[in-house]
Amino acid sequence: MSKTFFITTAIDYTNGAPHIGHAYEKVLTDAIAHHRRLRGEPVFFMTGVDQHGQKVQQSAAKQGIEPAEFVAGITELFVALWKKLDIRYDAWAATVEDLHKHCVQGMLQRLWDEGKFYKATQSGHYSVRQEQFLTEKERGPDGEFGPEWGEVVLIEEENYYFKLAEHRQWLLDLIDQRSAAGNPLVVPDFRVAELRNAVEKLAGDLCISRPKSRLTWGIELPFDRDFVTYVWFDALSNYISFAGYDAAPGADLSLFKSRWPAVHVIGKDILAPPHGIYWLIMLHALGFTDEEMPTLLVHGWWNIAGAKMSKSLGNIVDPSELVDRYGRAATRYYLLSDIATGRDADFSNERLEQRYNTELANSLGNLLNRTLNMAKRYRSGVLKKSDSPLAEFVQEKTKAWDSAMEAFHVQTAIEALMEIVIRCNAYVEETAPWKLAKDPAQADKLDEVLYSLSESLRIVSILLLPILPEESNAMRAQLNWSGEPTLANTAWGLLPDAHQLGDPVPLFPRIEVPA
Ligand code: MSP
Repeated sequence: MSKTFFITTAIDYTNGAPHIGHAYEKVLTDAIAHHRRLRGEPVFFMTGVDQHGQKVQQSAAKQGIEPAEFVAGITELFVALWKKLDIRYDAWAATVEDLHKHCVQGMLQRLWDEGKFYKATQSGHYSVRQEQFLTEKERGPDGEFGPEWGEVVLIEEENYYFKLAEHRQWLLDLIDQRSAAGNPLVVPDFRVAELRNAVEKLAGDLCISRPKSRLTWGIELPFDRDFVTYVWFDALSNYISFAGYDAAPGADLSLFKSRWPAVHVIGKDILAPPHGIYWLIMLHALGFTDEEMPTLLVHGWWNIAGAKMSKSLGNIVDPSELVDRYGRAATRYYLLSDIATGRDADFSNERLEQRYNTELANSLGNLLNRTLNMAKRYRSGVLKKSDSPLAEFVQEKTKAWDSAMEAFHVQTAIEALMEIVIRCNAYVEETAPWKLAKDPAQADKLDEVLYSLSESLRIVSILLLPILPEESNAMRAQLNWSGEPTLANTAWGLLPDAHQLGDPVPLFPRIEVPA
């Protein structure tokens, strides 16, 4: 049995409603997980919500409700959205759960017992919004702390610190070793340098506590009940707490080890320092070996007309509304096809409409429909197994699709799939089955064309599964092929002789765009 492919997404903050950035990350991960399942690999896909911290406490207070009630409401929005987008995750990590709290406390206790923390006093300017002390570097050209820091107050505080800086060289070596071994710690590899530069600059340690006098909505330090732990320490730990980890010496870690290490899917904003520095060093301090370090798959951002989505700009795109307006297929397809993994992209309704209408409604939907219609009209939907001039091309593109998916380049994989569709449509024009049907001498040729198209569509349906699972199944239902959708079953020629095709049902109705 091969090792479980363990893939997680960043757990989403529950201090605001989900937007298309959140939706993209989930759809991307869902597609990658489906691809691994198609290959027959055991998959464990975990996602969830990050529910503690100062911002949540403040948002709840503003609404005059308890933080627990506040996060429960926002969590519901996320859960409903993942259902609406058909995200098939295997485990749900919600950081208010007891299992998580116990695990995090176990980790904290162990690191404390092993001398990895120390207590110290810090005084200075503190940003309430960003929950961090500010240094001189953070002052703007006018000498003031900019509006991005929100309210800045002078405080003096005792806290616990995690010895980060002493692991700097270890982390630099790890980054270099993983790159040299062709297994970069950060994917796509153009982000490796970004992390390396951040690690080079690593000087201080990490404050991992907050006094309860200003933050109660968090996990208590087991060795000092006057403090809760810093939200990043809490949140990052979800990747192991919900996967069966236990920091207690001698704990049974067999289930956990069958999953670990993970691929963490995160946005570029949380690579350095949280995942690329804090998290890796936390794992290292807990005794995880270099071989047990995760891989960080870092995606780019969806922007709106080149600008960041933000509440203040009022340009936040609600993915749930998008699904209501255009459907799930159009939404998933757009989010996966119009961005290259790792790069940023600009969101636009026009591009969504255009890609859906051109690629799904016109190219793929039409190909399926005309193939089934012609087969029905000329052969009562019964195929004759024949050699095909398309076989080699389809197999080549299937391989390209698989390699692209393996490298997490979903956009490139979709291009390979669409090349098959485009080739098939051109083949229909070249062979003109409606003319062949009029000439009894061309009966074999007509059978060859109908088999080639149906078999190509069967394979395309499997390649489409990670992108649009529901439509992929619907395609196979129309083709009346009940075999398993697996990568092995993308081999050419699995539609048997005398196969009876099903009835055509329009699959991708056009989005009508008002003129
Ligand atoms: N709660 C932290 C993550 C903790 S992981 C242990 C967090 N939450 S978030 O809600 O702000 O962001 C969740 C994910 O969405 C992050 O990976 C983030 O990079 C991603 N995105 C947020 N805005 C985005 C876009 N505009 N576009 C694409 N992804 C973006 O960070």
